[in-house]
Amino acid sequence: MRFDVLTILPELLHSPLNHSIIKRAQERNIVDINIHNIRDYSPYKHRQVDDYPYAGKGGMVLMIEPIYRAISHLQTKVAYDEIIYTSPDGERFNQKLANELSLKKNILILCGHYKGVDHRVREHLITREISIGDYVLTGGELAAAVIIDCIVRLLPGAINDEMSALSDSFQDNLLAPPVYTRPAIFNNWKVPDILLSGNEKEIERWKLEQSIERTKRLRPDLLNES
Ligand code: ADE
Repeated sequence: MRFDVLTILPELLHSPLNHSIIKRAQERNIVDINIHNIRDYSPYKHRQVDDYPYAGKGGMVLMIEPIYRAISHLQTKVAYDEIIYTSPDGERFNQKLANELSLKKNILILCGHYKGVDHRVREHLITREISIGDYVLTGGELAAAVIIDCIVRLLPGAINDEMSALSDSFQDNLLAPPVYTRPAIFNNWKVPDILLSGNEKEIERWKLEQSIERTKRLRPDLLNES
């Protein structure tokens, strides 16, 4: 799978995408993540990428031309399945959408910034808008990192234990059961006996019960989702 990300703050994305599982997935050629600076495509003096809004006050708006040039240039090399704009107005990102996007081959993500982007970008250049939640970030970079992280860990081979992505919270609209590791007793706080019993069938039953109980108690809304 390939991601291209268009941003005016590439540094914000380098660190989150170059550690641990996401770094290893790139080294194993499971995913190719390319970060591009929109400024490199600006035709304006001083590599300008934003300007004052027409008939508006306040913050700067990302201009269409550098973005158009960047996308057009990348499209000469790659046919994108989706061109995503990260914005609080978008459809809500969740595990179901992550699963769906993990089946695509090439995804371009345009990170929003400041007061937004010239609306013609949203009307003509992108295929969907995605929000990571009902709150406003300073820009779309952290949202892009969240989306990429969540998708990459689903790709075959990204996680060593093949089963572990499938047993995540949310995969069956259920929260994951609790996990424990050594020592079996700490401060007189004990790991549940069942997990030390070696009885695989009973352990699986216990995990499912725990998942259902935790979901009912903590996220009952998930049980009504299809
Ligand atoms: N940009 C600013 N806030 C955002 C959000 N909640 N999701 C995606 N992109 C954003």
